[in-house]
Amino acid sequence: MTLTATIPEGDLPEGGRHPLRLNGWPILLCRSDGAIRAVIDRCSHQASPLADGRVRRGMIMCPLHGARFEIASGRCLAGGYAALKTFETTVIDGIVQVDVPDKAPPPELQPVG
Ligand code: FES
Repeated sequence: MTLTATIPEGDLPEGGRHPLRLNGWPILLCRSDGAIRAVIDRCSHQASPLADGRVRRGMIMCPLHGARFEIASGRCLAGGYAALKTFETTVIDGIVQVDVPDKAPPPELQPVG
């Protein structure tokens, strides 16, 4: 895992989402209940991006069919789907850092074209 700097923590308000691609991984930063965390930006149901999902009370809701996931653990709380991959985050000198796997993501998570 490699620590990768992303955005100033002040750029992510409560309930905010910020999609990124780091080392090929689609990652979504979310702030809920004050904490900034990172999950894979693909729903485990049909791989919809989650960046337009509502973030509330430590959960994110998939905008496509409404599955809800706990942001801290990635666990699916409503919908019965697999857990989301999560990434460790840290704030250093006000900048959000994400631990990104050294290896590239599987082909289904790589950008098209
Ligand atoms: S794609 Fe997310 S719930 Fe169906």
